[in-house]
Amino acid sequence: MKKPWSGRFKQSTDRLMEAFSASIAYDRKLYAYDIEGSIAHAQMLAHSGVIRPGEAKKIVSGLRKILKEFESGCFECKESLEDIHMNIESRLAELIGPVAGKLHTARSRNDQVCLDIRLYLRAEVGEIRESLLELEKTLLALAADHIDFILPGYTHLQRAQPVSLAHHLLAHLEMLERDRERLADALKRIDVMPLGSAALAGTNFPIDRAYTQKLLGFAKISNNSIDAVSDRDFLIEFSAAAAMIMMHLSRFAEEVVLWSSSEFNFIELSDAFSTGSSIMPQKKNPDPAELVRGKTGRVYGNLMALLTVMKSLPLAYNRDLQEDKEPLFDTVDTVKMCLAVFTGMLQTARFKPLPLEKLRESGFLTATDMADYLVEKGLPFREAHEVTGQTVAYCLEKQKHLEEITLDELRKISARFEKDIFDRIALEKSVDRKDVHGGTSRKRIRQQITRLRRELKS
Ligand code: ARG
Repeated sequence: MKKPWSGRFKQSTDRLMEAFSASIAYDRKLYAYDIEGSIAHAQMLAHSGVIRPGEAKKIVSGLRKILKEFESGCFECKESLEDIHMNIESRLAELIGPVAGKLHTARSRNDQVCLDIRLYLRAEVGEIRESLLELEKTLLALAADHIDFILPGYTHLQRAQPVSLAHHLLAHLEMLERDRERLADALKRIDVMPLGSAALAGTNFPIDRAYTQKLLGFAKISNNSIDAVSDRDFLIEFSAAAAMIMMHLSRFAEEVVLWSSSEFNFIELSDAFSTGSSIMPQKKNPDPAELVRGKTGRVYGNLMALLTVMKSLPLAYNRDLQEDKEPLFDTVDTVKMCLAVFTGMLQTARFKPLPLEKLRESGFLTATDMADYLVEKGLPFREAHEVTGQTVAYCLEKQKHLEEITLDELRKISARFEKDIFDRIALEKSVDRKDVHGGTSRKRIRQQITRLRRELKS
């Protein structure tokens, strides 16, 4: 197959080299964006008088035909034509003849490939933001249904203080909301039109870049052609935001794994989102959560791969940059899949309340409330902490839980205790007294739910 760049070459490309340099196996994914960009470019060339309107028309209709060929699965990609750009250009020549050769006027594959990835990523970021929103709405609905569901909150994975499950779920929602914001911000750097930078220096032709920008709906055009063809910051930024999303999902996944064990027993995944064991018939495993946790590794790896490809790369375009695509595509596909699976897993899961009796029995969850009570009765917090510590030690010795101890016993430890202490160390009371903005009181949670319902509507 004759290559579009073969003019100065006497020998044909070595087969091994051809296979080594080809990116068509994966950049085929960009076909729709490549065609969209080429259509806009051809129309701009006609608009600027660089080619004739009739020529642009032929080019555009040829490109539309090629799009149909891709969509119906009958476009045959050739490795000898290296990448998606040359495959499409060569097919265009087959379809419309020599006028196809005018499409590449005032353009290089260097700015073309940047355009394609930016169009691709702009669309994918939009979808990922939608998936994040979907997951956030799922969490919000679950939170609204579980306000009265009290579970032990943990620090150091030790039982710490009682919290509402709704509050815990909304903590995960906050992380995802920051992710969505981060992507919106990254979008500002993605949504920039590089076409017209050509190979690196710009072009001799009197083109109208703003016209192409308008046709493709970009917010900005690039200001420096050298930067434009070699900039991959936008996809690294996206990959970093994606790594953060996976980190968040992975933390949540770890909880789902723990919670679905018989040791915790806070959640049961549906059969539809679990798998069994090939040897142990009784097993029902939280595989979706484990896979999300596991896939976080490859998304981190992709980010490191991209940073490393860019390290020490001299200006402007270098072929190294072709290595941007596989990590990027893998990250996009992985994050989308993980978000969808996580949403499905949570929508079909059942949370299992821990009976309050069980909660009371272990962990001294309201010991901090006892210390706070003593502060209100006049003790400095450090002393109150000490007295409460002694009370816990006493309970441990007597094998009692905090709510079982009598006022007489308490008063032997400190005369500050009065009978209203029992009201303060009851679990629900403890939750509701965390009545600060951002706290776990049920009133505050309801306010957060109202706010989030309003904000997530958009
Ligand atoms: N397939 C190439 C890439 O992904 C397209 C740009 C090729 N440019 C070049 N000067 N060889 O980067």
